[in-house]
Amino acid sequence: MRSTIIHSIVSALLVFCVVSHGPAGSIEAPVSDATQECLTCHSTATPAIVEDWKKSRHSVVTPLQALGRPELHRRVSASNISNHLSGYVVGCAECHTLNVENHKDTLVHNEKKTHLTVTPRDCSTCHPAEAEQYEKNLMAFAHVNLVGNSVYSQMMHSINGSVTFDDRKTTISAPDEKTQAESCLACHGTKLQVTGVKKRETDYGEMEFVEMSGYPNQGVGRLNPDDSKGSCSSCHGRHQFSIQMARKPYTCSQCHKGPDVPAYKIYSVSKHGAMFSSMEKEWNFNNVPWVAGKDFTAPTCATCHVSLVTDPEGKIVSKRTHQMADRLPWRIFGLIYSHAHPKSPDTTIIKNKDGVQLPTSLDGQPAAGFLISKQEQDLRKDTMQAVCLTCHSQGWVKGHWDRFQNTLQTTDSSVLTATRILFRAWDEKLAGKDDLFDEAIEKQWTEQWLFFANSTRIASAMMGNDYGVFDNGRWYMNKNLQDMLDRLFFLRSAKKSDR
Ligand code: HEC
Ligand code: HEC
Ligand code: HEC
Ligand code: HEC
Ligand code: HEC
Ligand code: HEC
Ligand code: HEC
Ligand code: HEC
Repeated sequence: MRSTIIHSIVSALLVFCVVSHGPAGSIEAPVSDATQECLTCHSTATPAIVEDWKKSRHSVVTPLQALGRPELHRRVSASNISNHLSGYVVGCAECHTLNVENHKDTLVHNEKKTHLTVTPRDCSTCHPAEAEQYEKNLMAFAHVNLVGNSVYSQMMHSINGSVTFDDRKTTISAPDEKTQAESCLACHGTKLQVTGVKKRETDYGEMEFVEMSGYPNQGVGRLNPDDSKGSCSSCHGRHQFSIQMARKPYTCSQCHKGPDVPAYKIYSVSKHGAMFSSMEKEWNFNNVPWVAGKDFTAPTCATCHVSLVTDPEGKIVSKRTHQMADRLPWRIFGLIYSHAHPKSPDTTIIKNKDGVQLPTSLDGQPAAGFLISKQEQDLRKDTMQAVCLTCHSQGWVKGHWDRFQNTLQTTDSSVLTATRILFRAWDEKLAGKDDLFDEAIEKQWTEQWLFFANSTRIASAMMGNDYGVFDNGRWYMNKNLQDMLDRLFFLRSAKKSDR
């Protein structure tokens, strides 16, 4: 025990040395007394967390130093940061003891009120712009948008429930919480709820820890114990929170992979992705601002969707946004058709003409009152295209965009054909309308928009052509229509012979 403590103190001193001569070249980067105390135990209690933190900018730069950088080079967006925080590097205590009064997961941990989760609201102490923008991103609402929507809840039920068979028919049970947490909610985010406090024996004697349902989880729309939404570490993995990680496409691949949302696969086989894979090692992923042509020669997901990009002269091409929809005129993830982007990131408020919580009706009418105007779409298109135009000329970009617009139309039309076949099955009572996702012909219909039309649209937007043709693309769209028609005929003849 004694040797553990001595070891801890030595490690803590070592931490301090590293901190003082950190890679960011800081002259003197002091660690607060509170953090020093955490390090004393944690360099043995959770040693890899401490080492990881030591590699972060947080461990070497004080908010005061960060605030002193020229505007374009700033990595903190706060205009001022309170005195008790600004003079020390951002250590364990600076994050895990912020806003303790708002955190339902706050516990007294070695005589100090400490919380396990560190939420967007905590980060906003020093990064308010990113946190405010993120609140307006669909991602922050990813949990709410699923769970608060009756159609999507039906879909979760049909996918995650367990199916049993008794002689003639199958029955599906409601999905259990653990299954939900490791399927849909792994990406969309769980609800963290403190359920109790548990005492546990540790190297430092008996200590108390919170118990939380829905934990662990790093989903983009997680509901946090301080009532904020989301988890910044879904893209900025702890405890380095590096910009480099967020700028590389691997980060997004965790969730955007498909077959419903294949952006990463598509990007990987695009020319842009091919250039990234070949030349990644020669690019600079740490520079702020990020200079097109100099730091990188082809875009990653971040370049087109998030980054502050300048041209080699230092002129701003696009401002950084954590809102992301800023650059998206369309919602191409069709539910069930593509449509103008929703005005609010909370999509549960949308009602289509039939009173259903969907941005389009099943026969293709957009719920226009809830969607952005043509003017706003043009503005967002220009913001996205400004990024393209640092590397391409106008004709190249326009030619690409015209094909993309055309693909929105052709894929929507193919979804309408599938829907007409389904309507026919419903009209003839060959399938039940009450649950949209339970019968085989409905599952085929779902694949038409969720897999094939979405894949084709995303492939068109982000130039991974194979995913718009033979790999979940146009081939399958047309094949599936034939399969649906055959199933309709089969259901008709089965009904006749049943009589
Ligand atoms: C006396 C030693 C000691 C001190 C001082 C200490 N911790 Fe801990 N802490 C521990 C131990 C032991 C654990 C349990 C690790 C495990 O579960 O393996 C722990 C766990 C944690 C956890 C995870 C809790 C959970 O429920 O999983 C967090 C977060 C944490 N500490 C933060 C801090 C912060 C921040 C400080 C400083 C303000 C601090 N600790 C100071 C010993 C200490
Ligand atoms: C920039 C803010 C920040 C700093 C600095 C920070 N943490 Fe964390 N820490 C987080 C976030 C975010 C999480 C993820 C918690 C969640 O799920 O919200 C986390 C999680 C943890 C956990 C639980 C992780 C697990 O896998 O069980 C421990 C333990 C912990 N931190 C300890 C520390 C220690 C020790 C330090 C100092 C060396 C530290 N933290 C510094 C933000 C921070
Ligand atoms: C007390 C202030 C403070 C808090 C709280 C804080 N940060 Fe930071 N953050 C900083 C400072 C200071 C830097 C370094 C700025 C610099 O180098 O100019 C930084 C840098 C960053 C960077 C850039 C890293 C890089 O590689 O360029 C990211 C990303 C980041 N923070 C995310 C977060 C997240 C996520 C949280 C919450 C979990 C958080 N920060 C909490 C002050 C803070
Ligand atoms: C691997 C991560 C991941 C999992 C698991 C996941 N999703 Fe998603 N989901 C996404 C992504 C990414 C998007 C956004 C796609 C886009 O905008 O192109 C999304 C968007 C959605 C939307 C659109 C919500 C809206 O109103 O904007 C629905 C509905 C949806 N998913 C349903 C589900 C259901 C149901 C499940 C579980 C059966 C599920 N998802 C599981 C990643 C995931
Ligand atoms: C942990 C999972 C996860 C990660 C990691 C992730 N996303 Fe998402 N993303 C989602 C989900 C889920 C949605 C859909 C939310 C909804 O529709 O309710 C989404 C939606 C989006 C949207 C639509 C946003 C809007 O407001 O219209 C964009 C653009 C996006 N993601 C880009 C990215 C990029 C770029 C990265 C990597 C830097 C990334 N995502 C990383 C899960 C994730
Ligand atoms: C969907 C992925 C994603 C999520 C979630 C996310 N970020 Fe980011 N973040 C990025 C990307 C990509 C960049 C790089 C932007 C650039 O190149 O200008 C970035 C950059 C940053 C920077 C600038 C760092 C610098 O060096 O200038 C900060 C600070 C930051 N994020 C904070 C946050 C905070 C706080 C949250 C939570 C509210 C958050 N991020 C959530 C993707 C994400
Ligand atoms: C060359 C620029 C570019 C790159 C690189 C890029 N995207 Fe896109 N992305 C676009 C365009 C253009 C659209 C379609 C615009 C719209 O939806 O209005 C789009 C649409 C999306 C959407 C759909 C949002 C919706 O409306 O449904 C998501 C999600 C997305 N991209 C994620 C990613 C991810 C993840 C990566 C990296 C693996 C990536 N993008 C790489 C340009 C790009
Ligand atoms: C950082 C520079 C950069 C940015 C930003 C960029 N591109 Fe590219 N793009 C390239 C390069 C380089 C190539 C490869 C040209 C070649 O084939 O040699 C390329 C290739 C392409 C291709 C050809 C794909 C193929 O399979 O041949 C299209 C289409 C394209 N870009 C469209 C866009 C659009 C649209 C945007 C913005 C949404 C964009 N690019 C943003 C650098 C960029």
